[in-house]
Amino acid sequence: MTHRTQVAIVGAGPAGLLLGQLLHLNGIDSVIVENRSREYVIDRVRAGVLEQGTVDLMKAMGVSAGLERAGLRHEGVYISFLGQRHHINFPELTGGKAITVYGQNEVVRDLIDARLETSRPLYFEAEDVSVGDLDSTTPTVHFRYDGAEQEVRCDFIAGCDGFHGICRPSIPAGVLAIYERIYPFGWLGILAEAAPSSEELVYTLHERGFALFSMRSPKVTRLYLQVPPDESIDNWSDDAIWDEMLRRMTTRDGWKPNIGRITQKSVTPMRSFVAAPMRYGRLFLAGDAAHIVPPTGAKGLNLAASDVLVLGRALKGFYGRGSMEWLDEYSDLCLRRVWKAQRFSWWMTSTLHRSPDETAFDHQRQIADLDYLTSSRAAMTSLAEQYVGLPAEVSFESAGLKA
Ligand code: FAD
Ligand code: DHB
Repeated sequence: MTHRTQVAIVGAGPAGLLLGQLLHLNGIDSVIVENRSREYVIDRVRAGVLEQGTVDLMKAMGVSAGLERAGLRHEGVYISFLGQRHHINFPELTGGKAITVYGQNEVVRDLIDARLETSRPLYFEAEDVSVGDLDSTTPTVHFRYDGAEQEVRCDFIAGCDGFHGICRPSIPAGVLAIYERIYPFGWLGILAEAAPSSEELVYTLHERGFALFSMRSPKVTRLYLQVPPDESIDNWSDDAIWDEMLRRMTTRDGWKPNIGRITQKSVTPMRSFVAAPMRYGRLFLAGDAAHIVPPTGAKGLNLAASDVLVLGRALKGFYGRGSMEWLDEYSDLCLRRVWKAQRFSWWMTSTLHRSPDETAFDHQRQIADLDYLTSSRAAMTSLAEQYVGLPAEVSFESAGLKA
């Protein structure tokens, strides 16, 4: 069966779904092709922190009802080291900006609901997805659905299929420059049925390694622990996890996370990765398909959203004005933000984790870094403005949205 559309979107994660919605609002036709099931995509536990700009974008796109109902506005974070927590106040340092904690699962669920309401096509469990004719004006996406071969002919393909997707590897060898850093540790993450014991997130550097306190709702705590990158989750009983969490997080004033039943646990490796340019012919990469940040700066999902704003505007420019100008600018505009987020995520990661090859000097330097950070208004302002998100590359109006 052959379908014809304007933009074929590969991947129904945050990037693909947000793009589909933004195109819909601009009257641009799209087909979204996802290889996993709807349940799998929604249940995958991942990010939780939305920048102010991501929240504003979702509001402007009319997909923020859930976020406004259940999202938790946070006006700061704690940085904890040497047994003491230090608060960094975002609105005070950024002219009123904040972040919102709202699970990526919920974001994806809300975006799928919005997509289904538009009646535009979204295929789950598509098999053997492939892209072709990328350097022509009529690229194609092939896949099998319900046992039948499908072909989508389109003007553009948006590669929103994440780090392990097929779009980036479909670009001929030698076209992309790859920048990569692999960290010698990973994160063990859990969800627990326990009321959050702190209003704000707590990033901890402890002698035994990094730990992070976060949450999902007034009844659910989300916690992370630095572990070796190849650690098997089977090595960690629930008791061992709580023991280690408490050892790293408990502060001298007695603060610690509440304990509860662990309902989900997994280990994630950490890397920094950029593929440039984020385009080949009529294929445009967005989100994790083009770049990965280590999660310490909470930037991954937010970068996916900012790529989509720039790509949506560029496609609007093409269909509205017949101009390739904004599409030609897409990669450079995105990469400026991507590299700043890479630098921030690398800095947060290397300042808060213990490396197997570090020296005593390195550790003292980390402590000094955190001491300076939490005692200098200038340093706190720098962290705050990056954490809540740097200004958008393009205006909402230029992407067809009301601010
Ligand atoms: P994905 O979410 O990976 O979506 C890609 C989609 O494409 C998936 O649905 C996938 O199934 C589909 N796909 C893959 N291959 C194919 C194929 N061949 N055909 C069709 N479809 C395909 N980011 C933040 O901003 N804040 C945080 O607090 C944060 N915390 C994190 C914590 C953890 C533990 C992890 C793992 C990540 C975290 N991130 C965070 C990063 C964030 O989750 C990702 O950056 C985000 O999911 C990127 O969205 P995406 O749509 O680009 O990619
Ligand atoms: C969460 C994840 C992050 O990567 C982070 O830096 C902060 C919070 C979370 O899942 O809540």
